[in-house]
Amino acid sequence: MANVVITGTQWGDEGKGKIVDMLAPGIAAVVRFQGGNNAGHTVIVGGKKYILKLIPSGILHEGKICLIGNGVVVDPAALCEEMDAVRAQGVPVTPERLKLSRKAHLIMPYHKLLDKAREASKAEAKIGTTGRGIGPCYEDKVARIGVRACDLADLPLLRRKVEAALIEKNALFSGLYGLAPMTAASVMESIALVAARLAPHLADVSSELAAVEAAGGSIMFEGAQGVHLDIDHGTYPCVTSSNTVAGNASAGCGIAPSRLTRIIGIVKAYTTRVGSGPFPTELFDYTGKYLQEKGAEFGTVTGRKRRCGWIDMVVVRESVRLCGVTEIALTKLDVLSGLKEIKICTAYEYRGGRIYYPPQAELGMGDASPVYESMPGWNENIEKVSSWEALPEAARNYILRLEELSGMRVGLISVGPDREQTIVR
Ligand code: IMP
Repeated sequence: MANVVITGTQWGDEGKGKIVDMLAPGIAAVVRFQGGNNAGHTVIVGGKKYILKLIPSGILHEGKICLIGNGVVVDPAALCEEMDAVRAQGVPVTPERLKLSRKAHLIMPYHKLLDKAREASKAEAKIGTTGRGIGPCYEDKVARIGVRACDLADLPLLRRKVEAALIEKNALFSGLYGLAPMTAASVMESIALVAARLAPHLADVSSELAAVEAAGGSIMFEGAQGVHLDIDHGTYPCVTSSNTVAGNASAGCGIAPSRLTRIIGIVKAYTTRVGSGPFPTELFDYTGKYLQEKGAEFGTVTGRKRRCGWIDMVVVRESVRLCGVTEIALTKLDVLSGLKEIKICTAYEYRGGRIYYPPQAELGMGDASPVYESMPGWNENIEKVSSWEALPEAARNYILRLEELSGMRVGLISVGPDREQTIVR
């Protein structure tokens, strides 16, 4: 099997974890390349539920190597907690199976405090971050004052970095946000608890991936969030702090772009968004509530209700182009069963004209009204359907129309949360 990148084409929560988990048997290693524990995957295997935030979903498959690349920001305490939780469910998490890039930046307690203080201080322009310190950690990386995983093996250096970073952070905490300053001692106390545990997992992820390929194995690159939360290509400023597009799989774990061969764009059969930001097809009516409840659309990380709406093919089409998607995996099709009519957004009415791409002006999408076409729904329960032919005709027609509008084949169709509930076309 070729190397494969899994990318969310909407605003995250497309069900990437399930597709990663499903394809894992054919690959040797799964690697995360961006984001942090702002992401959350719920994977259901044999009725058992696993929640993964930083650890790649491949961990649920025996013998797979799971790696956390340099482009990820890692909360060391959160990673240890997750390792414990997964172990408690009977999954082995050894240093041979889970490797953390020495170059990955670490989320420090002051990043989380700053993230929350900033959001709390904003009256209207809240981004609705997950509060996990993701943005402030990436800021320190770019400011070249970040703490990296390799520093866990050199605690005196790590302490000097923390002391230097706290000079600025404490000026903000006490001067701007009215918070008590943080001490280096308290930060080091929390680090000391986890440093020894994580040290055996530190690795040169780029070389590890090269070794996997040299041995004839394939790699899966597990994206987090979605293309429209990308720091450059998303609905800025209501975005996350990393590049979520497929191309970042290369820089985010140290592999050449030519090695990214198969790009699977994950498309949820409708749209959801958590946090603030424009969402042209958002529904505030009964159907929105229906999707939210039937789709159990609650954030895995924050528990927030996800905003729900019709599928937006302007958004999906842009993602297919930006990522060079080679096939689509359509998820949660079963949630649409029972709706009399299903709408598809094909274009926007925007500032007096019709456009077929997302506007690039800041928050321009907020002025975009969806242009819909309507298709008949289906009533049948499709949760047990295992072939294309057995899908109701209306469901097949819906998928065929999505293929026309995206210019991309739908190769996988998910009709329920379990690994087995997937149609391979
Ligand atoms: P941050 O990534 O915590 O800085 O949050 C920035 C924005 O991205 C907020 O609107 C979050 O709700 C959103 N976000 C971050 N991670 C995810 C995710 O995994 N799924 C969906 N939305 C996310």
